[in-house]
Amino acid sequence: MKNILVTGGAGFIGSNFIHFILSNTTDIHITNLDALTYAGNPENLSDLKFDSRYKFIHGNINNSQILDGIFQETPIDNIIHFAAESHVDRSITDPLLFIQTNILGTANLLLHAKRYWTGLDSQSKSSFRFLHISTDEVFGSLKIEEPAFTENTPYAPNSPYAASKASSDHLVRSYFHTYDFPVIITNCSNNYGSYQYPEKLIPLVISNAVNGESLPIYGDGKQIRDWLYVQDHCEALYTVLQLGTPGESYNIGGNNQPTNLEVVQMICKILDEFLPGTKFIPHANLIEFVKDRPGHDRRYAMDITKIRQELGWQPKETLESGLHKTIRWYLDNKDWINTTLGKEAHKNWLTQNYEGRGEEDK
Ligand code: NAD
Ligand code: TYD
Repeated sequence: MKNILVTGGAGFIGSNFIHFILSNTTDIHITNLDALTYAGNPENLSDLKFDSRYKFIHGNINNSQILDGIFQETPIDNIIHFAAESHVDRSITDPLLFIQTNILGTANLLLHAKRYWTGLDSQSKSSFRFLHISTDEVFGSLKIEEPAFTENTPYAPNSPYAASKASSDHLVRSYFHTYDFPVIITNCSNNYGSYQYPEKLIPLVISNAVNGESLPIYGDGKQIRDWLYVQDHCEALYTVLQLGTPGESYNIGGNNQPTNLEVVQMICKILDEFLPGTKFIPHANLIEFVKDRPGHDRRYAMDITKIRQELGWQPKETLESGLHKTIRWYLDNKDWINTTLGKEAHKNWLTQNYEGRGEEDK
């Protein structure tokens, strides 16, 4: 039996990862430490309530007492650190929260994890891993003609979110060099899939389109992201956990380069197919260009040669197949999405982020 401590497991990628591990293994127990911020939803894991291999702890990674309690009670073998503030737009309005969670929280988790690891016997010490989940946004923005980011691309974060993740990556890296603490960093591109909080582009567009509401595209919509289906990300993380080398970082990406406008048009087309009876066809008529995000990065792209050649992972889904699965999931899980859409905090965010943004002439 192995014990994995997952932080931030009630969020989008964390909850998919927990489901992935529990359904693909028989010998792994998971302890999920999550503060349940606006992005954490216990419903994402409600099916595991009676699973003896799953334990939920409501708490903050900045809380030393809670961390000590976990390490005293459970012989943790690996840590997968997802917990973070993750939305660029929120980092523009509340940067200090990102420093508190992403930098100080990671620093606190490292401190306690390393103290616990120091006390392990030599075998447990050498098999221990601290897997830090990071983003391609730490590398900054690419011009259209520039090659994709590799693991050696210098960091150049442009938003408070990206800067806070870059800082946390540096802290994690320093623990390997200073203490031999067995860390691995993964830098991944934009994810999409089930259980994603509906203020991020793809679930926002799906839910707005289904309800006949406008589909807001920032600026000219020609920004490029490298989209990865979340199940592919989970598989990559499990591969890195098993085969990755401590002290290394691995880029993870979906091998595609659509513009935001193309992604939204694809979603509209799939919804036209899936919902032939609705009065909102063609859904693309709902697209509206709105004022751009300040400092909006133009293009991200990941070179995934290292993880493919060294660890044998590559994505299985294309953007088209992944979007079909994702849209089907949101249509089949209306209660899940409607509960979030009905929350006061969510409505307040929509007002704060979109009201007064206006329509751009495009
Ligand atoms: P999310 O916002 O959906 O979930 C974050 C989770 O962390 C939530 O459950 C929240 O309650 C929890 N959390 C926040 N602050 C906490 C704290 N102080 N203590 C404990 N728990 C806390 O995020 P996500 O999209 O699932 O992203 C997970 C990780 O992956 C993040 O570190 C993010 O930077 C990284 N990442 C995300 C993407 C993406 O496209 N979503 C891409 C690359 C990397
Ligand atoms: P998002 O899902 O917020 O992820 P990130 O900023 O981390 O890449 O946004 C993805 C892209 O979609 C990004 O270029 C911003 C853009 N976007 C819109 O055009 N409209 C929106 O309403 C949102 C939320 C995002």
